[in-house]
Amino acid sequence: MSGRVNLLAPEFLANPYPVFAQMRRDTPVCQVEPGGLWAVTRYADVVSVLKDPQLFSSAGLAHSMEPPWLGYNPLARSLLVMDPPRHGRSRSLVSRAFTPTAIARLEPFLRATAERLVDEMLERQEVDFMRALALPLPAAAIGHLLGLDTSIHSHLKVWSDHLAIISAISTADHERQQQVQRSIQEMEGYLKEVVEQRRRQPGNDLVSALLEARVEGEALSDAELMNFLFALLAAGLETTTNLLGNVALLLADRPELLERLRAEPGLFASFVEEVLRYESPAQSTFRLTTAEAELGGVKLPAHSVLVLLLNSACRDEQYVPDAESFVLGRQDLVNIPFGHGIHFCLGAPLARLEARVALEALLPRIRSMSRGPEAPQWQRSIQVRALVQLPVRVIPA
Ligand code: HEM
Repeated sequence: MSGRVNLLAPEFLANPYPVFAQMRRDTPVCQVEPGGLWAVTRYADVVSVLKDPQLFSSAGLAHSMEPPWLGYNPLARSLLVMDPPRHGRSRSLVSRAFTPTAIARLEPFLRATAERLVDEMLERQEVDFMRALALPLPAAAIGHLLGLDTSIHSHLKVWSDHLAIISAISTADHERQQQVQRSIQEMEGYLKEVVEQRRRQPGNDLVSALLEARVEGEALSDAELMNFLFALLAAGLETTTNLLGNVALLLADRPELLERLRAEPGLFASFVEEVLRYESPAQSTFRLTTAEAELGGVKLPAHSVLVLLLNSACRDEQYVPDAESFVLGRQDLVNIPFGHGIHFCLGAPLARLEARVALEALLPRIRSMSRGPEAPQWQRSIQVRALVQLPVRVIPA
């Protein structure tokens, strides 16, 4: 490979996997563009970084998420960007409320929402799958979980898009900067009202449960609560939307898969796991070295920013046989698409539930789903593997 790989080059975005394979083989830890980030592509190296938060810090990234033009950014103070021991305390508090039971309670609401969205899709038959289902279902899930007014659900995407801009690399565009600032203020104002309302009148929702959560007599502070709510929106909305988009792309491109799943609904869960491995929406995550480190035989200076390419790790031949093929029903998959170690995704059960419910609402009702011959258009992002849009034609069963 000559020169540095550019993770934002159009040919890379179109299909990063051959480049990942070459990097795993020849330069498993190397500097890439933009910004001279240190890319980590092998499964074992990614896992060893995620297991060592002392040397490979998340908190060290917070500073770059609060550039001078932005100032206060609740995401930079959230769980995602904390190291031990702070992380452990915060995580155990929010885990008291964000439980598998709380998530399972969402199922009837999610099912009704998915069925309504599929009805609307079938009426029109030609739709952008992202707008028709992939986006509104996770927005409704987060909105319902937090007990937000339904009128606000469609606005969540705008807020979360603006958060995405600052979660990795900040923008130099003045107008975008103002939009981001406005979104943070709007969200904060709105969420504060919700918190106050739940304080006065607790309900059966996550915000109320978070207000009640205690570990050794301690509760979340107001700031911690706000930062966590921001993290839920940032971490929970876009990822699941893009998982549903990637699920639909595979179904549209491989009619034989759609046929098989329609015949064997028992395979839905393992289909979702394989999509998460093969084309995960969370392409990467970042860490900062706190001291000089060695990884994969390469010396990394202190304060190096690492981009851990989860989607490459998922296709590491050392980790999974026939890794470049989509194989339904693989056994013993490790959950690397949801991270590993102390930051392992808190929302994994919710993401899986949403994907299963979407398939259960969609597949029995359609005979086929197809798309035009044009290549899919992927978002220009290092962090997510996400379709810009997915125009499809659905034929009712
Ligand atoms: C953390 C992926 C959906 C909430 C993470 C991490 C990954 C990830 C890779 C670890 C980041 C790191 O180590 O730096 C995904 C994927 C999803 C998904 C692929 C969907 C397919 C969700 C949902 C929610 C959520 C639906 C909540 C509503 C979180 C939170 C964390 C997290 C709060 C931070 C945990 C911590 O720092 O301790 N997610 N996520 N995620 N995710 Fe998810």
